[in-house]
Amino acid sequence: MAEAALLDGKALATKLRTALASELARLRREARLAPGLAVVLVGDDPASQIYVRTKTRQCEEVGIKSFAHRLPADVRQEDLLTLIRGLNRDPRVHGILVQLPLPAAIDEAEVLAAVDPDKDVDGFHVVNAGRLFAGISGALVPCTPQGCLRLIKSRVPKLAGLKALVLGRSNIVGKPMAMLLLAEHCTVTMAHSHTFDLPGECRAADILVAAVGRPELVRGDWIKPGAIVIDVGINRLDNGGEKAKLLGDVAFEEARRVASAITPVPGGVGPMTVACLLRNTVIAACRANDLEEPAF
Ligand code: GUN
Repeated sequence: MAEAALLDGKALATKLRTALASELARLRREARLAPGLAVVLVGDDPASQIYVRTKTRQCEEVGIKSFAHRLPADVRQEDLLTLIRGLNRDPRVHGILVQLPLPAAIDEAEVLAAVDPDKDVDGFHVVNAGRLFAGISGALVPCTPQGCLRLIKSRVPKLAGLKALVLGRSNIVGKPMAMLLLAEHCTVTMAHSHTFDLPGECRAADILVAAVGRPELVRGDWIKPGAIVIDVGINRLDNGGEKAKLLGDVAFEEARRVASAITPVPGGVGPMTVACLLRNTVIAACRANDLEEPAF
């Protein structure tokens, strides 16, 4: 069997950013609109710092104004909520993102509920989760599953009837991913740490999305020949001071001999997540100003 095609998230994200940049230039020219994204980072988690830096840099590159708010790990819940309420009122801010995970002492659900659903570019507010669940238009869709779906559809535009397996049931990836695939008329199974016969469930899937944070859990012989494999895992393997190696949730070298297409780690899902965040920010800014949303 031929080796799987690589689903190049870096290239697809660049294409999306280029389209967004020209849309942003048009909004500036024709509507004098400058979309803005506020990014809130609490504490000093090294991975979160890298993500936030990438997000703010890419905002500036496409023409979105970014407002970074860095707070100490011991910030009071009430002070964090006050910041978010201020951002909800700020007309320069069209999108608000609170980087997760938050420190253990913070009530995450209360923080996410405080974000104005119309500015919730992460799509984590229950109003947006509910819209996605109910199939009501107008949801801001979580960025990682949105990026995964775009990668899948870049390879197979019509998904109706295909069997999809979502491995992992987080609010950030697994649950919204299942809803998106269901809306595409897939037959969706959700698997997790309590699933009996995980390899067997995987082997039945035409589309396999792995989002469990377990390095190389999914082996080559768990994959149906010809399946599309989307690897959301970014597991840092410390190797004694050298640059940490990144491993996905899928044993890549094994899987690429069986799948028809697979995302690499890094360079697969990660870049798409950030590009979809920029897209959600443009959508939120258009809606706030009663302007037509981008069609892509
Ligand atoms: N932490 C891990 N993934 C995400 C994400 O998509 N958004 C935010 N805000 N935090 C995260």
